[in-house]
Amino acid sequence: MHNNLTGLNICVFASGSGSNFNAIVNARSEGVIKSDIKLLITNNSDCGAVSIAKNHNIQVEHISRKKYSGLSDDSYAQLFIDVLRKHQIDFIVLAGYMKMLDVPVIKEFSNRIINIHPALLPSFGGQGMYGMNVHRAVLESGVKVTGITVHLVDENYDRGRIIFQKCTEVLDDDDENTLQQRVLKLEHIYYSQVISDIENGIIKTGLQ
Ligand code: GRF
Repeated sequence: MHNNLTGLNICVFASGSGSNFNAIVNARSEGVIKSDIKLLITNNSDCGAVSIAKNHNIQVEHISRKKYSGLSDDSYAQLFIDVLRKHQIDFIVLAGYMKMLDVPVIKEFSNRIINIHPALLPSFGGQGMYGMNVHRAVLESGVKVTGITVHLVDENYDRGRIIFQKCTEVLDDDDENTLQQRVLKLEHIYYSQVISDIENGIIKTGLQ
């Protein structure tokens, strides 16, 4: 028996080009995802993800330490919680968000935050393992497979429960760019599928 969870309000957090965010928004238009992509939170008001949100009439909240430099850590964390409550967010999707979430936010959304990582965790994760650094480390290690990992976010960086993985070969003539492109293609296909599986109760999170 699957527990269908449609009508959720999703908030995506992104800092960069937003290609995963774009894929998620498209999946919503195509009906693969049933929930509402209600809000984008970004620490970078100039990033590609913000343009994508604007093109699709998705609300954007820009929250950065620089913008709120006067706030204590607790008040800064509370700001996120207040914004998420204001928009009645049920579920958070991290898609290239370059900041650590504050612990009170993780607690408030316990088991209701997912992240995508461009390698097969628990390898090639942790501090400093983002962007091209990941693909470079994969190539340097000599492994023959890499892939993507979607995991729940807890207080330990890249260590929350793994809910999905898909692998792809590392080819002999790969460089970090070709590898990144192949992995990114997987991200665009499967991240939305994972969200859909969560909605349909096929993948269990804190929502069920
Ligand atoms: C992706 O590789 C994702 O796995 C990682 O950050 C990158 C974001 O890319 N967490 P984009 O902004 O979605 O294009």
